[in-house]
Amino acid sequence: MPQIAIVTGANRGIGLEVSRQLAQLGHHVIMTARDPRKGAAAMQQLVAEGLDVELRKLDVNSTEDCQALARHVAENHKGVDVLVNNAGILPESFSDTSGRYPANPLRVPPATVMEILNTNTLGPLRMIQAFAPLLRENARVVNVSSSMGQLSGDFGNGHLGYRMSKTALNAVTKMFANVLAPKNIKVNSVDPGWVRTDMGNENAPRSPAQGAASVVWAATLPPDGPSGGFFLDGERLEW
Ligand SMILES: NC(=O)c1ccc[n+]([C@@H]2O[C@H](COP(=O)([O-])OP(=O)(O)OC[C@H]3O[C@@H](n4cnc5c(N)ncnc54)[C@H](OP(=O)(O)O)[C@@H]3O)[C@@H](O)[C@H]2O)c1
Repeated sequence: MPQIAIVTGANRGIGLEVSRQLAQLGHHVIMTARDPRKGAAAMQQLVAEGLDVELRKLDVNSTEDCQALARHVAENHKGVDVLVNNAGILPESFSDTSGRYPANPLRVPPATVMEILNTNTLGPLRMIQAFAPLLRENARVVNVSSSMGQLSGDFGNGHLGYRMSKTALNAVTKMFANVLAPKNIKVNSVDPGWVRTDMGNENAPRSPAQGAASVVWAATLPPDGPSGGFFLDGERLEW
């Protein structure tokens, strides 16, 4: 029986590459995408490579979608071994009336901050809540976070909503590492580094494969691996 892995935001960027790498390791990967057409194109790429993947529609902002996916997984796969909360946004609309990007934190609309928190922080929370009963003993949960959420780092003067969302995501990681510890489930935050994706842009130094490898490390930790931590390429980061 292959291990069952779920990846959110799997239609492009780091999520697509995480799906590829987990499938190459022998997992059955449930790729999820909010737009089924984009998801199908991504899935077909991996199927053409001979990989064992399926596609399900999932908008992480929708509790209903998360619960519907959990019902599908319960009926067809019984349980889950790996959950990768990868979907995230850094919206262009993150601008103030000056139209500058990133917006000045003194003028960014709170509604924009709410939108980012809804996807980047509450999306993983919805998924963990929906899938907790299905996560098998020794399962791995990976929350794809960012060094931009590090309170120990330099917060700079921009990207307020995104930074808040990743700092709060790290809090979700710490909480559920404790809550799920009785089932020996490991929950970690991972920074993929600055990666050449639509979000990271073409100037980023790391390939999607390198970013994904940082995530896959935490998704495939051995039984004596860490839980409740924050990592880049397997090295522990300060919160
Ligand atoms: N790239 C970097 O340098 C970098 C650095 C640190 C952390 N990260 C994190 O890594 C993760 C992946 O980023 P990426 O660089 O691969 O970004 P990306 O290329 O912009 O891809 C983001 C993915 O998330 C999906 N998504 C957004 N909102 C969603 C929702 N409500 N429901 C379901 N899927 C949704 C997108 O789907 P659509 O195609 O439908 O929009 C897309 O598949 C994010 O959490 C990001 O914050 C990235």
